[in-house]
Parts: sequence; structure tokens; C-alpha cells
Amino acid sequence: MSELDDLSAEVKASVKYRHVAPDFIRSIGAVELSRRNSYKEAVKATRNKLHQVGGAYLEKPPRYETLLTEMRAAVQAGGVAALRPICSQMMSSHASTHERLPVLEQLYTTVFGLLPRIHSVLDIACGFNPLALPWMPLATHAAYDAIDIYEDLTSFLQEFIVLCGCASHTRAGNVLNDPLTEHKVDLAILLKAIPCLEQVDKRAGTQLLDRINADHLLISFPVHSLGGRSKGMSATYETHFMELVRERPWTYERLEFATELVFLVTKSA
Ligand SMILES: C[S@@+](CC[C@H](N)C(=O)[O-])C[C@H]1O[C@@H](n2cnc3c(N)ncnc32)[C@H](O)[C@@H]1O
Repeated sequence: MSELDDLSAEVKASVKYRHVAPDFIRSIGAVELSRRNSYKEAVKATRNKLHQVGGAYLEKPPRYETLLTEMRAAVQAGGVAALRPICSQMMSSHASTHERLPVLEQLYTTVFGLLPRIHSVLDIACGFNPLALPWMPLATHAAYDAIDIYEDLTSFLQEFIVLCGCASHTRAGNVLNDPLTEHKVDLAILLKAIPCLEQVDKRAGTQLLDRINADHLLISFPVHSLGGRSKGMSATYETHFMELVRERPWTYERLEFATELVFLVTKSA
């Protein structure tokens, strides 16, 4: 066994990170082993990084099985719209969707009002955002794929998305290694994902934008930090977005919401 095998197994064995995709733990661990003076420091730094990019947003995973049972009953009784109260409740437990809730309806009404009928979606570093499906006016039987680092979350989302009437190939993994799309999708969603991915790899934003095979991209940035500070964040991220799209022949709409700065990009008409 190599040091990297040991580190990956040790981190994966901890309660907090047991559901994180092994390839993601390995990729963080490899970097930390090369940077730190000792194995112990590398394990600690790997845990810190996992907290920073994932654990910090979700204090405790919900009871996914119980929720799925409640959700199936709700759909049977009242269709997909009847899922909204449970979904709102769940979204409030993840820091990123929590702050989106006050603008959720406005955001998706505005965005889908600007788009043609959407038949396929790829939600990148999705967190709990797929739980907003009952607010998204997608085409009937649309495909909705999502990816995040958590295995328990993505297994749950796979079932949830199918329950909403969509086809899905939702999976746990590192978006920086995932092939993302073999086939073009109508819409790729990257909500508040770029700053998070760039904490691991500074080039993540630009590389992702090149690799995503989609007609439209829904990209957003937070306007407050997780700690609630907001000084200049919106302007900084807007400048960053401009750098990312500079020299790309794309058009975009800027949409500002109280808790999120959103760009709807069109790659090809
Ligand atoms: C700021 S949250 C955004 C969540 C969601 N997009 C939203 O806006 O509601 C960042 C999410 O990215 C996920 N994540 C971080 N690094 C990732 C990676 N390399 N591959 C896949 N998901 C990642 C985290 O687990 C977390 O759910």
C-alpha cells in the first residue's frame, strides 16, 4: 500500500467523509502529500480541504431513505408539485440552497423564461439544487443528470429525479475528472460552483467551461461568504466571470438576485 492508499482509506473511514467519492479524496490527498512535511499533516490538510469545499455547506446529511418514502407518498397524492414543501425544507439544510430559497421561484421563472424548451440538463457540483426540479418548467420526460462528490446524496438524487418524471444518470465523482458529457445537453448548471472548484485548482473554472458540451450555461456566484461577509464580493466575481468568458464567442444575460449573481450564457443558438 502506498502512502496515498493509506491516506485515502484513513480519510474515507471517518464519519464525516465516508460518503465522499474515493477518487476525489485521492486527488486532494495526492496534492497534500506532495505539499506537506509529514503524512499526518497531509491527512489533516486533506480533511480541511474536504470541509472547505463540501462539508462546510451541509452540517449533517438528512435521512435520505425516510425522505424518499415521504416523497413517494406526496407524489402519489398530489403529483410533482406536492413535493415542494419537502424540497424547500431539505434545501434549507444546505447552506448554498438555503440562501437561494427566498429567490428560488423568481430565479427559475426568469431563467426559464429566457430559454427555449429544455430537454436535457447537467447540474455540476449540484449540492441540493436538483431539489428545485419542481420549480423548473422542463420538457416532459427531460433528462436531468447531476454530479457531486457525495455518494449518499447522489444516490438519493438519482431516485428523486426519476420520481419527478425525468431520466437521470446522477453520480458521485470529481467534476474535474468526470468526462461530463458524451452528448450535448441543452443546459449545464454551475450554481456557485466555480469559486468552490477553484479552491482546489485555480484553472478549474476555465477548464470546465471549455469541456462542458452544452448550448446554454447557467452560472452563478455568491454575493456573501459562508460567514455572511459581502464586501465587494459581487464585483470581484463579476470581474472573474468576464475574464472567464473573454475571448469566447458567447453571449450572456446578467441577472442579479438578492442573494446570488447569475449569468445565463448561450454558447450556440
Ligand atoms: C457552493 S456548493 C454549490 C451547490 C449547488 N450548486 C448550489 O448552488 O446549490 C458547492 C458544491 O460543490 C460540491 N463539490 C465541490 N467540489 C466538487 C468537485 N470537485 N466535484 C463535484 N462536486 C464538488 C460540494 O459537495 C457542494 O455540494
